[in-house]
Amino acid sequence: MFKIFKIVISNILQRLSIVRSDINRNDKQGALARAWGHVYNNSIVGDYVEFGVYKGESVISSLKIRRDFNLWLKSQYQSDEKWRRDFARNSPLNDPQIFHCLDTFEGMPFNDEGSISFMQGNFFTELSKVKAKIEKQNSEKINVKYYKGLFSETRIEFLKSIKNRNIAIVNIDCDLEESTRDALCSINQNISIGTILLFDDYNCFNADNSKGQRKAFSDFQDKSEFIFEKFFSYHFAGQSFLVVGLR
Ligand SMILES: C[S@@+](CC[C@H](N)C(=O)[O-])C[C@H]1O[C@@H](n2cnc3c(N)ncnc32)[C@H](O)[C@@H]1O
Repeated sequence: MFKIFKIVISNILQRLSIVRSDINRNDKQGALARAWGHVYNNSIVGDYVEFGVYKGESVISSLKIRRDFNLWLKSQYQSDEKWRRDFARNSPLNDPQIFHCLDTFEGMPFNDEGSISFMQGNFFTELSKVKAKIEKQNSEKINVKYYKGLFSETRIEFLKSIKNRNIAIVNIDCDLEESTRDALCSINQNISIGTILLFDDYNCFNADNSKGQRKAFSDFQDKSEFIFEKFFSYHFAGQSFLVVGLR
């Protein structure tokens, strides 16, 4: 009896949960909601990769937003329109994505990029604490992988782990030009048309084209086989891009 009651309540809640996060927010959370919206709207199969995790706040936001979208997908199983039921039941997004979390977990690396905010050792944290915090919020038991060290040092471990899996969302939140360069070098083989890239610090360094994430991404685009298009901007300095084609 209790089991039936639970199923009925959960069905009602799922049917009601049609609000899939707040895409009208212009902060990091809003950006992640739009990114996941893009993924669910287009059924893009692929993992979530974050370069620059710090205390795990944006990873946790991402886990929660993904969970909400997934709840919405499940609610479509009960739609009175057949095509929606078929679409939801056959969606490749029923298979959970893997979350890849990369950071030194010891703060910003040595650099000579001249920003007081991004000096070596800032954003210090400890991997064990970050893991515990993320796992506490990981209600759906998503496979979250951690790579501790400089992106350039963990690249091989990351590539071995992601293999040929596609990346749906890459959140590049590592502030520096060199770090962004290293991050982009690691994802080059695993992005495809539809991948969304979030650059949280795109307009840092006074939005100077010759510095920071702008410079790193501009150089990357010059050599890339992909065509990128500006999508939305967010928060104080963030800019997203979509992979929209092949050269
Ligand atoms: C601004 S914090 C990230 C904030 C986090 N995404 C959030 O929203 O809570 C930047 C992080 O990038 C990491 N980072 C920067 N360059 C790195 C590099 N080359 N390798 C590894 N981690 C790096 C720093 O350790 C720091 O934790």
